[in-house]
Amino acid sequence: MQGVFITIEGVEGSGKSTQLLRLSERLRRLGHPLTVSKEPGGTFLGRELRRLLLERHASGETWCPDAELLLFYADRAQHLEKVIRPALAEGKIVLVDRFEDSTRAYQGASGVAESALDRLSDLVLKGLRPQLTVLLDMDPEVSLQRVEVRNLSLGAEFAETRFDEAELDFHRRVRNRFLVIAKNHPNRVALIPARDPVAQVEATIWARVAPLLRSAGFGVD
Ligand code: TYD
Repeated sequence: MQGVFITIEGVEGSGKSTQLLRLSERLRRLGHPLTVSKEPGGTFLGRELRRLLLERHASGETWCPDAELLLFYADRAQHLEKVIRPALAEGKIVLVDRFEDSTRAYQGASGVAESALDRLSDLVLKGLRPQLTVLLDMDPEVSLQRVEVRNLSLGAEFAETRFDEAELDFHRRVRNRFLVIAKNHPNRVALIPARDPVAQVEATIWARVAPLLRSAGFGVD
């Protein structure tokens, strides 16, 4: 039996983690073999790369866009080889928090050329694509406010995490790129309005996930 590969995408603060948790809990309750992972950081190497990637602003040295791009793809190559492909080969449902669409949206918004993304994608993915991508769509103006509130509630250490106009503009471009991806891949990408109440978003996601699982031979009731 071949597994099922599902990714979840969206701008920061769109509720990805909450929905991923709810979906994975539901799948566990149904008793399905499940691998839940994320990018960057789904392997040991990936966690080292993640640290480097997310600390890029703290170091005082910014990573040049090509270096950053290669780090994300290094993370992805290792993740595919060590986690995603083996789990799919074992017939598992594989649920991944962020995947290639994030690179196309974020690094694309940072100015990386489409042709570079295509070449790296060919090299690393070798044709593997998620069967379903859940895209949680939300205006960054709202989603980033959520992130700010969350960071503030984490205490003084994070209290300075404020998004300025340039960052907001960047996240708007990220969102637009996600929307273009959804438009170009309507069969793969489920575009979900993420401002609805959590339970409603969860139900909308399940309405897209359940038929896919059923067709792959997994029970959904
Ligand atoms: P993370 O803390 O996982 O954020 P979130 O909870 O929003 O997923 O950080 C991941 C960050 O890395 C996020 O800002 C998106 C970014 N990213 C890229 O820029 N390119 C990529 O290919 C991936 C996978 C993530």
